[in-house]
Amino acid sequence: SIEAKIDSLLSIMTLEEKAGQMNQYNGFWEVTGPAPKDGDAALKYEHLRNGRVGSMLTVRGVDQVRAVQEIVVNESRLGIPLIIGFDVIHGYKTLSPIPLAEAASWDMEAIRRSAEVGAAEAAASGINWTFAPMVDVSRDARWGRVMEGGGEDPYLGSKIAAARVKGFQGDDLSNPLTVAATAKHFAGYGFAEAGREYNKADIGMSTLYNMILPPFKAAEEAGVRTFMTGFNTLDEIPVTGNEFLLRDILKGKWGFDGFVISDYASIEEMVVHGFVKNEKMAAKKAVEAGVDMDMEAYSYVNEIVGLVNEGKLDESLVDDAVRRILRVKYELGLMDDPYRYLDAQREKEVVGSSSHHEAVLDMAKKSIVLLKNEGNLLPLKKNGQKIALIGDLADDKNSPLGSWRIASDDNTAISVLEGMQQYKGNKLTFEQGAQLVVGAESFLTEVRFNTTDKSGFPAAVKAARNADVVVMVLGEHGFQSGEGRSRTNLDFPGVQQELLEEVFAANKNVVLVLNNGRPLAIDWAAKNIPAIVEAWQLGTQTGNAVAQVLYGHYNPSGKLPMTFPRNIGQTPIYYNHQNTGRPEDPNPGADMVWWSHYMDVENTPLYPFGYGLSYTTFKYDNLKLNKEQFEMGGEVQVSVDVANTGNYDGKEVVQLYIRDLYGSTVRPVRELKGFELVDLKKGEKRTVNFTLTEAELGFFNNQGEYVVEPGEFEVFVGGNSVETLKASFMLGKE
Ligand code: IFM
Repeated sequence: SIEAKIDSLLSIMTLEEKAGQMNQYNGFWEVTGPAPKDGDAALKYEHLRNGRVGSMLTVRGVDQVRAVQEIVVNESRLGIPLIIGFDVIHGYKTLSPIPLAEAASWDMEAIRRSAEVGAAEAAASGINWTFAPMVDVSRDARWGRVMEGGGEDPYLGSKIAAARVKGFQGDDLSNPLTVAATAKHFAGYGFAEAGREYNKADIGMSTLYNMILPPFKAAEEAGVRTFMTGFNTLDEIPVTGNEFLLRDILKGKWGFDGFVISDYASIEEMVVHGFVKNEKMAAKKAVEAGVDMDMEAYSYVNEIVGLVNEGKLDESLVDDAVRRILRVKYELGLMDDPYRYLDAQREKEVVGSSSHHEAVLDMAKKSIVLLKNEGNLLPLKKNGQKIALIGDLADDKNSPLGSWRIASDDNTAISVLEGMQQYKGNKLTFEQGAQLVVGAESFLTEVRFNTTDKSGFPAAVKAARNADVVVMVLGEHGFQSGEGRSRTNLDFPGVQQELLEEVFAANKNVVLVLNNGRPLAIDWAAKNIPAIVEAWQLGTQTGNAVAQVLYGHYNPSGKLPMTFPRNIGQTPIYYNHQNTGRPEDPNPGADMVWWSHYMDVENTPLYPFGYGLSYTTFKYDNLKLNKEQFEMGGEVQVSVDVANTGNYDGKEVVQLYIRDLYGSTVRPVRELKGFELVDLKKGEKRTVNFTLTEAELGFFNNQGEYVVEPGEFEVFVGGNSVETLKASFMLGKE
């Protein structure tokens, strides 16, 4: 068995070799070139040869991976192969939409398939392990990494977490087209205070257990093989040194038997946080807390041997960490054949294959959310409409690729311009609107927006005047969200708002296509612009997906996975909030002050969670429960009729929410507890059924115990979190 093999290997490993397995380095030199002679690269090279490295990250491509694997296998004493990690966040080379966009599809099979495509391309390029999915529930649009997750809801987030883990890992980890997945960042990183990157997270126990942990648990139940900690503190303790999270919950209560990796240098950063005195204590804290592998902090490789020899660290903890790492290496088949992922022919065939392009296009169109369509401006007419396409993002082939795309080539997205031009041989007028981007564009540098250049305005306005319909592509640059990209402002960057208003003054028939990695504050547009399409950053096939939706070839079906605020001041804003003691104006019209509100903007969001339109319309009717009174432990059957009452075939995400009216802790005003994506032909009606069990009706109390309490519940069903039908029932006896 694998465990017996690990036992015998552990018995011959030196302490130094064990610490080596727990050490991961970032890729550092052209591995196929000459050996590095000095600096960090030389040190890492030496460590590889001496069995002091267990994993590398960001080395990629069959040739490079083979070269680095050969160093370890041929030169180190035991020749234990490396596990090669990489951020396959939304695809490898053929890019899917950013994960937040994918979440908007609510289509778990498409999401699974998208992860499978990323896994196949990465694995064919020699990679064994992705640092995805990021399953941090996030409510604060200021935080740049909201683009990487599944949005604000733990239920939807849990389904997505499971779908992505299954997509990455498949059923058999040793299949050479799968990779091990990582649930990250454990835990609380999505609650970085004020949305500022790497900031502390102050979270009560109820929020931790009910909002943050469920997607991690879902990933664990789906068999995810690794977890990554984060950069944040949780209740003042860095999560990388957090025994409660890692030992008590993850490895204890949940019985997780894979391994935990730190985030990049987050072990040594515990010194900077002011949590430990020095690197040695950081290494001790991290091992004791349950971090099995150190990503690029050098702390384990430098300190573990000394700590154990001085009696400051229990060697059995080291053994446990190594066991976990070796277990995953065995499961991947690396221990039997270190080169099993390395086949140059397979790499050529798999990366960028046409079936992958089809899959990411499918995912991209399903991710688009129609926010507004007044007067049925959309879909565009295929013939006879004169269309002006405006805004630099319209012909941008780079920005739609989004952040986190280390292996993809620049400028490889189909732009909206190309997509629309290629769509049935269209001829379009295209005008440079406003200059959006200045300076370098790269994952590692800041993208800043030129706030003053309006030289393109006159041409844009002229084009708008001459057109029947104007399509404007506005929003954020692809590198304006992602790690290290927090914003204090959710407006359109630069002069885009001014451009939008000037163009609108020239032609009211504006279709606004949004490109963004987070919710934006588009209050003016929502009031004035007749049609708004949320197209996020949709990856390689962006332009084709947008064209298919604008022309009605695909009827949009996406629903927002994150609430859109009216302005930044409402942030964080989310649908599953609690009631305050004074949630409503007690005397509307009387200007009463003493209730929970802002003086300058209403409490409601601009667009709520779960919101999204279609070219057709859906009518909900006949919400029924099988009973009104249930025994504890009983199942509640819910049914609703949904009819397609418009002029197009279409898909609708039927959403079910509950409210537990009172509990031993205050419960949210609504909680998503079920959804179904239904495909309805024009005129078709269907009854959709849901079952609520204890798994949906209970919650975690402040001690982390799952409880189901008797009392009154409300059930809401509809096409978003606000416009719903309602029914009530009683659970148990009070
Ligand atoms: O996987 C990432 C993580 O999410 C943020 N820090 C760097 C890691 C490796 O690139």
